[in-house]
Amino acid sequence: MDKKPYLIFVASQKGGVGKTTIALNLSIALTYQDYSVLLIDSDVATFSVKEHLGIQGSGKGYIDAITGKATVADCIFSYQPVGLDLILGDTGDDTSGDVTPDSLNKFYSQVLKLSYDFIIVDGQPGLFNSTIAKYLNDVIIVTTPDNPSAISSAKLSSYCEKLKVSHRLLINRTGYSKFELTREGVERLFGDVAYATMPEDKIIPESLAKHRPAYMLDRGSGFATAIEALSRVYMLRVGEPETHTPVGGKKRRGFFGRFARWAINDTTNQDQGQG
Ligand SMILES: Nc1ncnc2c1ncn2[C@@H]1O[C@H](COP(=O)(O)OP(=O)(O)OP(=O)(O)O)[C@@H](O)[C@H]1O
Ligand SMILES: [Mg+2]
Repeated sequence: MDKKPYLIFVASQKGGVGKTTIALNLSIALTYQDYSVLLIDSDVATFSVKEHLGIQGSGKGYIDAITGKATVADCIFSYQPVGLDLILGDTGDDTSGDVTPDSLNKFYSQVLKLSYDFIIVDGQPGLFNSTIAKYLNDVIIVTTPDNPSAISSAKLSSYCEKLKVSHRLLINRTGYSKFELTREGVERLFGDVAYATMPEDKIIPESLAKHRPAYMLDRGSGFATAIEALSRVYMLRVGEPETHTPVGGKKRRGFFGRFARWAINDTTNQDQGQG
């Protein structure tokens, strides 16, 4: 029997703390473990998954799916080097007005009918729309290890508590300052919310320059090791991967290619692609 996908929402109160980096690398790590994963870029302020992956061109994406201009399946693009499915977004017009509680309800109920083990949503900074709370299995709250970011993240943590949404804290870019948040500081702000850390790692700027996820560039790096530990938390929740083929997955990739005209134009990706 088909299980419903496990939906992880990657959130932060402040911008630029590492949501996209974490959402993308967690998706890749789970895909490497044979889970079928759909990564959704829902950051209408700055869609950036495609920039991280060196994907160019324009195709149907998040706003088309949200507004019902295209079916969700028509908006899926398969990142062929690993077989990770994506719903991308375009930059340009201000599309935030399209995101209403009604459109979100329709979108989330549709994606949850798809056959994936995991759906990972890269969010935009700030509180997420409360209407989606009922669809989320877990929220990853990303913060950097400094007081301003952590204090604002504590708001997001209280918000999740109020909405009764399971959540955990991820302290990104640790290990480079002797003034960073201490364990006591974290516990004072977040109580007993589970938390993990991701190190500051030079593999991240390299990965951005090469348009290739850090996890694919160097699985032995400190960052990739921490991502792998995080992926194990979720693997335990979901159990073994389902054996089905994901919607945009290998067997049907050509079919979806007709609708999503995104293309990996980056030479690094083409040269090193595995499939
Ligand atoms: N662990 C890390 N080590 C080194 N640099 C990092 C790390 N995590 C993130 N960065 C850097 O921080 C910047 C922001 O990362 P990212 O785009 O993932 O953040 P974001 O929260 O998605 O931003 P936005 O709010 O704009 O969507 C990037 O330039 C990235 O290189
Ligand atoms: Mg981002």
